[in-house]
Amino acid sequence: MNPLFSAPRLITQCDAPAMAAIHQLCFPDAWPVELFSDYFDKPEWIGVFGFAVDHTAGSIAGFIIGRTTYDTNDILTFAVNPAYQGQGVGRILLETYLDAVPCACLLEVATGNTAAIHLYNTFGFEIIASRHDYYDSPDPDMRDAYVMTRRVAS
Ligand SMILES: CC(C)(COP(=O)(O)OP(=O)(O)OC[C@H]1O[C@@H](n2cnc3c(N)ncnc32)[C@H](O)[C@@H]1OP(=O)(O)O)[C@@H](O)C(=O)NCCC(=O)NCCS
Repeated sequence: MNPLFSAPRLITQCDAPAMAAIHQLCFPDAWPVELFSDYFDKPEWIGVFGFAVDHTAGSIAGFIIGRTTYDTNDILTFAVNPAYQGQGVGRILLETYLDAVPCACLLEVATGNTAAIHLYNTFGFEIIASRHDYYDSPDPDMRDAYVMTRRVAS
């Protein structure tokens, strides 16, 4: 891992403003800070957890959060600050997250998001369905979504 970045650590509610700021840089339909904060108000109630990688400058470089309900995990959102993309942060975050998930994992990804789809494929995710007009994006290639799943290793 690049020495400019920390090892992944667990996210807390204090990280909500930084997560919202990165989301704003990455998505046209970014989540408000309140949504991140609410998720980590009582994470044990709704099974939410996540990891962040910090930059040595002190800011969060990227994060991933998800939720386990019964026997299925959903990756809720996953983003790396564009200034730090392409340096291995996303891969280490996803690997750390999946190591912590004991069950099948589901996610949605824009059909035009080739970087994320490539990354998910390398961890064994497969496309199982599509959702039309799932995202509110000005880019027509980023409106439809694939549903991808990763089964538990037997
Ligand atoms: C998807 C995302 C989280 C990946 O994070 P990252 O730190 O850039 O990823 P990494 O540097 O660890 O690279 C992971 C893989 O993606 C590939 N990749 C990264 N950027 C890419 C790009 N622009 N085009 C194609 N592949 C790309 C890398 O080549 C790497 O694959 P490899 O290891 O086989 O070479 C990041 O691009 C991002 O935040 N994008 C915007 C938000 C987003 O799309 N989130 C996912 C929503 S489902």
